[in-house]
Amino acid sequence: MNLCVLGAQWGDEGKGKIVDLLTPHFAIVARYQGGHNAGHTVYAGGTKVVLHLIPSGILHPGVTCIIGNGVVVDPHALFTELDQLAALGVAVDGRLLVSDKAHLILPYHRELDVLAEARRAERPIGTTSRGIGPAYEDKIARRGIRVGDLADPSSDGPLAHAVRENVAARNHLVGGTALQWEPVLNDLRGVWPRLQPLVADTSSYLYDAIAHGRAVMFEGAQGTLLDIDHGTYPFVTSSNATAGGAATGLGIGPRAIHAVLGVAKAYTTRVGGGPLPTELSGAIGERLRETGQEYGASTGRPRRCGWFDAVAVRYAVRVNGLDALAITKLDVLDGLEELPVAIGYRCGTALLEDMPGDTLQLARCEPVYETLPGWTQPTAGVTTYAQLPREARAYIKRLEELCGVPAAIISTGSDRTHTIVRDGSLVDRLGAVARA
Ligand code: IMP
Repeated sequence: MNLCVLGAQWGDEGKGKIVDLLTPHFAIVARYQGGHNAGHTVYAGGTKVVLHLIPSGILHPGVTCIIGNGVVVDPHALFTELDQLAALGVAVDGRLLVSDKAHLILPYHRELDVLAEARRAERPIGTTSRGIGPAYEDKIARRGIRVGDLADPSSDGPLAHAVRENVAARNHLVGGTALQWEPVLNDLRGVWPRLQPLVADTSSYLYDAIAHGRAVMFEGAQGTLLDIDHGTYPFVTSSNATAGGAATGLGIGPRAIHAVLGVAKAYTTRVGGGPLPTELSGAIGERLRETGQEYGASTGRPRRCGWFDAVAVRYAVRVNGLDALAITKLDVLDGLEELPVAIGYRCGTALLEDMPGDTLQLARCEPVYETLPGWTQPTAGVTTYAQLPREARAYIKRLEELCGVPAAIISTGSDRTHTIVRDGSLVDRLGAVARA
């Protein structure tokens, strides 16, 4: 079974742990969008590892990892991660493939990202300043430089031509400074020898692998509400984090995706600008942030925290065709007396059950809460559903009802073992397939 695992909220749902946990059931893990704006925290032999670009599946010997055509690649960020893995003794040779069609993030993309944010003054998106947006802009404007283009480094070849055109476009956008194109070309020539052994036609590789029955996990970055089309535009990232992005971002047919698992926290967080209807500004928000250690894995920024928003997750169920949820960080709610869950939005006189398409309208919405009782007994580290306090089970059950899909996994701590896999669930069946 090929499974797509993606974020059902605003990113940072804890996908890293879930992907890491499920990897033993798969031969290949393939990342389909985003870039090194993502940050997946995993623990390898007791050491904390934060991976931004390389799928965390790389930590499992024998698993092949793919960086698909839908990803934007900063070669220097990639090399930093490879160095980090080498220092940990993780052998990557032959197990990491980068699509020849993936677009490159060039040094001045980062600069353009920062400048664009400065221009937004009053309404910043709060980007990660990694050059993600400008790299995708060049891709869509059809002047982007792809990994495979680096194969011909000649001064009169298509790469040199594209670099000249790109730098001219950048100089047009940024008044007062003129970037020279030669250093950019030289930098790209310099990265090719190390990048070249990783480069492959990953769409064709996946096609053959799937035809031979090798199981693939498609790994999304960011989250549904940060998707360029379906998120809270313009406060979004520049790629399709939703399930459809797996098909276009890897060059596979949609029927190659057999099931979709959405990862959602037991509450809500968001980093950066844009509406967050259930946001808590007071002591409880602070408590969620501290208990949940809600600080960006890539940028260290404090995350905005709020109650679980069933409207948002129900929306994620719809636009991704989710089969099940993995609910993470349940233990962060331990000891809270009451747990409000947003079941709808009040917007003026209208009562909405669905996510409005208009972000300005969403910003004016007030959540309508249903309040569930909290629990006093700790859930941290619990590994079976039956061991959860009654109120925690009732909380999960209500989230399942409100979102319309079952919770296949409940995570009760950062460790791999702090996990409940529900009997008979999608994930339980994966294990059965792998064991057979
Ligand atoms: P960009 O992807 O750097 O352009 O940032 C666009 C928006 O997406 C900002 O609000 C970021 O905070 C958010 N964002 C990007 N990557 C992540 C992530 O991995 N987790 C959570 N938010 C993210």
